Amino acid sequence: MEGLTKDKLLELLKKEAENCKSCPLWEQRTNLVFGEGNIDSVIMFIGEAPGFHEDQQGRPFVGAAGKLLTELIEGLGLKREEVYIANVLKCRPPNNREPLPDEIRACFSLLKKQIEIINPKIICTLGRHAAYTILGHSVNMASSHGKYYEVEGKKVFVTYHPAAALYHGKLLENIKKDFETLKNLYDEIILAPKEEVLKSNIKEQLSFW
Ligand code: URA
Repeated sequence: MEGLTKDKLLELLKKEAENCKSCPLWEQRTNLVFGEGNIDSVIMFIGEAPGFHEDQQGRPFVGAAGKLLTELIEGLGLKREEVYIANVLKCRPPNNREPLPDEIRACFSLLKKQIEIINPKIICTLGRHAAYTILGHSVNMASSHGKYYEVEGKKVFVTYHPAAALYHGKLLENIKKDFETLKNLYDEIILAPKEEVLKSNIKEQLSFW
């Protein structure tokens, strides 16, 4: 694999995902939702799993939650296509049910490789399933949102899932504030990549990959 471009590596990984039968979800999907965006992005967003519209279109976050996510990304001063967006699961769970632990485990090697190829400095997890998957342990969203963890030299920023924020006004307020913190983190990383940033927001130092 050495010497291959990021583009090529992601193309090969997508083929691997298209052929994946590690869990039964591939049988019912319309389209694989691999992920999309700028493969050189400093920041990568990770959601839960494709819903109805994502499954239909083969693209992440294209429904109502996607509209909110796009607005939040624009609040960072970025266009949606300037960042990379993926999900914990690449296939839609039936009736949009939550991912099962076995499905998360089965899909993790794809996500891990995807992260390694993109190599973002910041991973923003959207919702508790994404946080659990990336951190390797469950988090209390009420106390962890708006904070980041250090994992393998990356900053893993925890926030709510935009779909949850659409249904609860308080969470919408929280996610908007979290994105202000994320903007500070992003700006500091862009402006001073070698400096230790926002130390006070570090929740915990972790290493699990
Ligand atoms: N919710 C997610 O977690 N991911 C999507 O792609 C869409 C909705």
